[in-house]
Amino acid sequence: MNKSAIVRCLGTHPWTENVLVYEQVTSTNTVLKAMAQQGAPHGTVLIADRQSAGRGRLGRSFLSPGGKGVYLSVLIRPNAAPTQLMHLTCAAAVAMCDAVQAAAGIRPQIKWTNDLVVGRQKLGGILTELALEPDTHAAAYAVIGVGINCSQDHDEFDPSIRSMATSLFLSTGKTVDRNLLCAEIIRSFYRMNEQLIEGKEDTLLRYTRDCITVGQDIQLILRDTVRHGKALGIDSDGGLTVEFENGQTETVSCGEVSVRGMYGYT
Ligand code: BTN
Repeated sequence: MNKSAIVRCLGTHPWTENVLVYEQVTSTNTVLKAMAQQGAPHGTVLIADRQSAGRGRLGRSFLSPGGKGVYLSVLIRPNAAPTQLMHLTCAAAVAMCDAVQAAAGIRPQIKWTNDLVVGRQKLGGILTELALEPDTHAAAYAVIGVGINCSQDHDEFDPSIRSMATSLFLSTGKTVDRNLLCAEIIRSFYRMNEQLIEGKEDTLLRYTRDCITVGQDIQLILRDTVRHGKALGIDSDGGLTVEFENGQTETVSCGEVSVRGMYGYT
């Protein structure tokens, strides 16, 4: 990963000045949250070549080997109430589909809520973390972190994820320029932020189009309980509307729920 190359690809972009590139961090989300607490500006972008403690949703880890992927977090300071930002992860997922398409020529699909998939295998994921102002409970900032598998060959994935993981190299047969991908992600997140509130309806329509979960028979896993149902659609906050086997329809929000297809990861 090369800061000058990323900055060159970005050109005169409003966030160019705020791009930081590190060799190794624990987690770009953790480090950027600490910087946010110290007053880092809206639009700060932190990129690392490897993470020693990359994190995923639901307390999972995200394996982040050096030189093999893009591990990038962006800090935004939205001027909005948390209730207006429920769809933030969905907006980030659509932005990521746009960025991957621009840099690598393929458009991933989304497994609700935050996984990017190609050919039913996981290409990467998104971890959104929102911090509130202690007194007013308004949104203080959000850190959106993305990890994309870029150049791994099949046997380079850890055996624990090998059967469900893919990379841009495996999906396209080509080596993606990771610096260009970083620049496209930054551009895409900038646009996402501009459209975050006014463009919500359109964003969720686009999300629904990219989402493979909608229309599928799924298992919903909440701690030890598994419920079966059919995913009907995405609601106005990015929640998944599910018709359960007993005929009842409920909308689930991403909180603690994990979704699986009936016969595998997707
Ligand atoms: C998931 O698969 O549940 C989300 C994975 C998110 C990984 C990215 S890599 C950059 C940023 N830093 C982290 O620790 N996690 C995110």
